[in-house]
Amino acid sequence: MSIEVKNLTHIYGKNGPYEKVAVDNVSCTFEDGEFIGMIGHTGSGKSTLVQHLNGILKPTEGTVIYNGIDIFDKNTDLRKIRQEVGMVFQYPESQLFEETVYKDIAFGLNNYGIKGDEADIKIHNAAKMVDLDYDLLQKSPFELSGGQKRRVALAGVIAMEPKVLILDEPAAGLDPAGRISVLESIKNLHLTRGITVILVSHSMEDMAKYASKLVVMNKGKLELTGSPKEVFKNQKQLFEMGLDVPNMCKVLAKVRALGFDVPESVFDVEETAQVLCEILRREKC
Ligand SMILES: Nc1ncnc2c1ncn2[C@@H]1O[C@H](COP(=O)(O)OP(=O)(O)OP(=O)(O)O)[C@@H](O)[C@H]1O
Ligand SMILES: [Mg+2]
Repeated sequence: MSIEVKNLTHIYGKNGPYEKVAVDNVSCTFEDGEFIGMIGHTGSGKSTLVQHLNGILKPTEGTVIYNGIDIFDKNTDLRKIRQEVGMVFQYPESQLFEETVYKDIAFGLNNYGIKGDEADIKIHNAAKMVDLDYDLLQKSPFELSGGQKRRVALAGVIAMEPKVLILDEPAAGLDPAGRISVLESIKNLHLTRGITVILVSHSMEDMAKYASKLVVMNKGKLELTGSPKEVFKNQKQLFEMGLDVPNMCKVLAKVRALGFDVPESVFDVEETAQVLCEILRREKC
């Protein structure tokens, strides 16, 4: 079970005056149950690429194979694929439009013919998964805070019980508390339901904390992929792409520049503390 992107190219406005190659011959595989982080500078093609994974955009060339099925084959039931591969767009709160939070979460389910008690259970489960108070279900989505609105949008997709969840900058623009709450809900979903997560984010700290595999996009091409340890080792290459590394990588780079032997693959706070304690212990001897 996996999503395989095969030689995918997407050109906006092909042969027109504003032709733009947004994704350029990208191939990669997202395995079942992975937590994938997708990073890249603004305009590097992240949103364009992920919108192919459930057929919202059609490739100019190449294809996407979901569990062995070519999703762009004319005989493929895209509705079924979209039920299994859920997508939360960048700034999804702008797409909330129902009179109540409850109806907004129900929207996708109703579209798939899921109504009544069956929908009611799924709506309440989804609200619980994203830590949304049941009291809020009868409110207008417009009365909610930014973080709550984001969670309503997330609940609407989760209620469909997708096997793969794609999130395009789910925490962008939220305050630190809202950010942590949304990302922790996603992490819990991944852990408790085993959902494959593909998270697009600009935050290297979030990537270091949550992702098990990283995909780095640069000018439409897939530039680097691997575990966070493998990817964050390439600091120079990341800087050249206009990307940052987690703060701990920078701290340890400074320690390394002072002549200490520091492993290149360390990026989280606990491991950094261990490395620094070890150096202090050695220096005292
Ligand atoms: N609908 C469109 N029509 C024409 N060009 C587009 C369209 N959408 C995106 N582009 C262009 O395609 C390229 C890739 O855009 P995309 O939105 O996929 O990048 P991104 O990595 O998601 O950027 P960001 O980090 O800002 O969200 C950019 O140059 C962008 O201007
Ligand atoms: Mg984008």
